Amino acid sequence: MQDNLSIRHKIVKTTRDYFDENGFIEVETPILIKPTPEGARDYIVPSRVHKGEFYALPQSPQMFKQILMVSGSDRYMQIAKCFRDEDLRADRQPEFTQIDLEMSFAGVDDVIEVQEGFIKRIMKDIKGVDIETPLPRLSYDEAMERYGSDKPDTRFDIELIKLNDFFSGCDFEVFANTLREGGDIRGICVPGGAAEFSRKKIDKITEEVKHYGAKGLIYIKYDENGISSSIGKFFSEEELLALIEKCEGKKDDIIFIVSGTSKVTYDSLGFLRRRVAGELGLLDDNKYNFLWVVDFPMFEEDEDGRLKAMHHPFTQPKLDELDKLDNDILGLKANAYDIVLNGVELGGGSVRIHDQELQKRMFRVLGLTDEECQEKFGFLIEAFKYGAPPHAGLAYGLDRLVMLLIGEKSIREVIAFPKNAAAECPLCEAPAPADEEALDELGIAVK
Ligand code: AMO
Repeated sequence: MQDNLSIRHKIVKTTRDYFDENGFIEVETPILIKPTPEGARDYIVPSRVHKGEFYALPQSPQMFKQILMVSGSDRYMQIAKCFRDEDLRADRQPEFTQIDLEMSFAGVDDVIEVQEGFIKRIMKDIKGVDIETPLPRLSYDEAMERYGSDKPDTRFDIELIKLNDFFSGCDFEVFANTLREGGDIRGICVPGGAAEFSRKKIDKITEEVKHYGAKGLIYIKYDENGISSSIGKFFSEEELLALIEKCEGKKDDIIFIVSGTSKVTYDSLGFLRRRVAGELGLLDDNKYNFLWVVDFPMFEEDEDGRLKAMHHPFTQPKLDELDKLDNDILGLKANAYDIVLNGVELGGGSVRIHDQELQKRMFRVLGLTDEECQEKFGFLIEAFKYGAPPHAGLAYGLDRLVMLLIGEKSIREVIAFPKNAAAECPLCEAPAPADEEALDELGIAVK
């Protein structure tokens, strides 16, 4: 832990040096604020002076950094504490730290250029590794189609193969139903996987892909005993050989197939390709595959079918596609980008809307009334009246960056006094009940 903390310190120092040398000014922004729409639940803090009113802790400094751009700051950076009340995972903590950045008069390429310089510097100073730039860029659509994920791990070659055409007109009911319902059939071919995946292991990963919505996992194994498959009853040996050929498989390989909605096939196989790569020892810790994912959709639907911004509502949609707001809203793409390292989303950002009318229109599309808009974000929209410069930025998860550079599996290993999976501090035992008197002063009664 001492080593980890000292490497974290070096990363923060190099970060400050790099951005300082490139004209960025570090500005601290407030912690007691109004809610920002990053999509997670807020931590809220009661006000004693204004009983019944609450501050939110920032999920990010997003709106403040945009206001700084409007005010004439040219390049901003901050090592910023952020707070999000969301389900915890190995790469998520309720309080975490961002390297937060914003640049005025900047577009996608300007941000990417400065960040690639940063990545090069960090990797050289901390790991002694030369990273070649420009980094690869993949569109969101291509990342999903090839890797089933918007944060693809490209350290190994296994890619998704769409099999709709191959199986069109087949009698096998599961596939026929999927295609009739407008779903997809996709597979991956795992080179040399036939010997590795026994029935028992296949049963285990079948259970795992069910967490991603798959109803089952089909396999076709090709080894010295010939072909064995969970769909062997429904297809002839020639058909299965043709399938193996379609997937560019050969003897000793195993093919896995999932059918369902497009999302289920992407999520299941996106998970599985990395899972099997781990099993086969293909996740090389000495490889650092950075890449950009660009051209994200502007919107997505949540579980209840409601529209929400995929990045956040201040993100600029592709300006030459604005007619899609009226006729193909889910097809509208945004000037948003993520930086990915070895299958982990290291950071994300976008070009921002700097036009008052367009910003109001986006809020309306997201179902906010003009009054709600005014109430929540009035100060930002107001600021755009005063000649806001085009601006763009990004935030890295500092904890994730440190975790990946050290080779740890959880960000808890690189944070002093992290929270446990139940969002408790094991050391000081927060959260804890507040005493009666404090609650009284705040005008709060606990239900
Ligand atoms: P976003 O929400 O994508 O963007 O967050 C940026 C980066 O912060 C890290 N991160 C986290 N790390 C640990 N625990 C968490 N709970 C957690 N949540 C997010 C990730 C992520 O890529 N304001 C925008 C940025 C911008 O548009 O400039 C934002 O916060 O590494």
